[in-house]
Amino acid sequence: MKVKKIAVIGAGVSGLGAIKCCLEEGLEPVCFEMSNDIGGLWRYKETPESGRPGIYKTLTCNTSKEMTAFSDYPFPDHYPNYLHNSKMMEYIRMYARHFGLMKHIQFLSRVCSVRKRLDFSSSGQWDVVIETDGKQTSYIFDGIMICSGHYTEKNLPLQDFAGIQKFRGRCLHSWEYKHPDDFVGKRVVVIGIGNSGADVAGEISRVAEQVFLSTRRGTWIWNRVWDNGNPMDVTLFTRYNRIVQKFWPTFLINRWAENKLNAKFNHANYGLQPKHRFLSHQATVGDDLANHIITGRVLIKSNVKEFTDTSAIFEDGTEESVDVVLFATGYKFSFPFLEDDPAILDSQRTMFKFVFPPKLEKPTLAFIGIVQPIGATIPTSEMQSRWVVHIFKGLKKLPSEHDMMADIIRKRKELTKIFLESPRHTCRVPYIDYMDEIASELGVKPNLFSLFFWDAKLAKEVFYGPCTPYQYRLQGPGQWSGARNAILTQRDRILKPLRTRVLTPSGSPSSRLFWVKCISTVICLSVPMLFITQLIHQ
Ligand SMILES: Cc1cc2nc3c(=O)[nH]c(=O)nc-3n(C[C@H](O)[C@H](O)[C@H](O)COP(=O)(O)OP(=O)(O)OC[C@H]3O[C@@H](n4cnc5c(N)ncnc54)[C@H](O)[C@@H]3O)c2cc1C
Ligand SMILES: *[C@@H]1O[C@H](CO)[C@@H](O)[C@H](O)[C@H]1NC(C)=O
Repeated sequence: MKVKKIAVIGAGVSGLGAIKCCLEEGLEPVCFEMSNDIGGLWRYKETPESGRPGIYKTLTCNTSKEMTAFSDYPFPDHYPNYLHNSKMMEYIRMYARHFGLMKHIQFLSRVCSVRKRLDFSSSGQWDVVIETDGKQTSYIFDGIMICSGHYTEKNLPLQDFAGIQKFRGRCLHSWEYKHPDDFVGKRVVVIGIGNSGADVAGEISRVAEQVFLSTRRGTWIWNRVWDNGNPMDVTLFTRYNRIVQKFWPTFLINRWAENKLNAKFNHANYGLQPKHRFLSHQATVGDDLANHIITGRVLIKSNVKEFTDTSAIFEDGTEESVDVVLFATGYKFSFPFLEDDPAILDSQRTMFKFVFPPKLEKPTLAFIGIVQPIGATIPTSEMQSRWVVHIFKGLKKLPSEHDMMADIIRKRKELTKIFLESPRHTCRVPYIDYMDEIASELGVKPNLFSLFFWDAKLAKEVFYGPCTPYQYRLQGPGQWSGARNAILTQRDRILKPLRTRVLTPSGSPSSRLFWVKCISTVICLSVPMLFITQLIHQ
């Protein structure tokens, strides 16, 4: 059989994983990247470029390195647990170099259109038009992996803000925000309290005269740093916790989580208390927000009702003069290169496991990285790619359209039970469940039962430890001989970058405790003895 040619659209982390998976399975990938370099979202650029994701100078991961890694390529042990975007870029470059991915990428090549060929129902092939240097070229491909990301098309709901046209100050979206220098001494209102909104508001507040952070529904704030200073995801995202969660009623989990977060700071006193429960909406990672609020640099406000030429009027009737409005209102999905074919993309983004459009005659097109796991993107996209290449090669089959639709509808129902209705939520999934689901399709889900018999030490770490991506390389296709060791050493890699000051052993606390106990026992016993001897001698 001839080698299948696969077009990979975009060279961000999803695209790089896709190229690697194609190579692993003997497919022939050609990756088209519209910019001149790899990395996608993680490559910081001083000026925003339309059609590309934009991040700010200080952006730092909200998922920790052990949970964020490619499944057969752990981060170096000395890397910090939460990486600055420049460190993330270093890792991405090392990955591309290590697996020889660069030679499969055509840079400065924008995919303009992806269309079914006339004989699609028999061949499953695609016509792909690429624009390079203003010239268009057409290619034929046997399969398409769409890895173009979804943080490029700004969501700017200006129609919801009366009077915004009159406002004479500066208006911008967080996509354009780079650093706080432009905001020195300014009065700034930040709209939206997602991860970006909270982060950017805090950063600007260090130099601004005053920052107002406006939120419609409030939010729960959680932290990168969890109990005992461990990374949050490492602590919470374990198989053990997932099972406990499944057996406990939702309201108890919500109560536990909310009490825990309120113990850090009371969300009601800080004006953040949402109406929704913890599990039903994305919580915001915001380690510093409480500090900015308690020092008065950030004031939490309700929704903006309207703007005048120089001020914002909030729903509670208060009015504040402002110089800048910063919309941290998120992004919209956008795939301008897909023809208006409802069989590929409908308004609800109906996709089997958020990857395959169920209505295509041939399963030769896949979306990678559309899903929004409550966890890290790299391992999720990579898992999808591993599955997709198996389908492309015909090693695995998709169910019938009818069965796929039934699965999609059932999943939707389950998710609407958990999450609030919101367009962003149509693709949100619990991390471990989703990974396991795809892993089962592929036959790489770790078999805990047999592990407990053959390798109890490993089984314990797989079950009680963080559900790190290496778990999905222990068995089945794509098995990696380093996976066991990567799992057993993950805790060392977490601690290594923290323990940068060598502590001289000054007697361990437990041995000190031992002496304290001995001495107090002697005192306790000797005092009554003395007393008794005194009595006898009298
Ligand atoms: C502020 C912010 C913080 C985040 N933090 C985290 C985090 O800490 N951890 C985490 O796991 N996830 C995080 N995410 C999610 C993030 O989206 C993923 O980590 C990841 O970067 C997505 O990679 P991607 O390859 O899917 O898309 P992107 O990184 O967006 O890459 C897509 C690539 O496709 C190219 N492209 C697009 N259209 C075309 C076209 N028509 N032709 C050719 N090329 C095209 C683009 O130039 C780009 O290089 C964050 C997202 C945001 C917005
Ligand atoms: C990290 O930030 C991105 C972008 O704001 C968000 O989609 C994702 O859910 C966040 N992850 C966690 C674990 O909060």
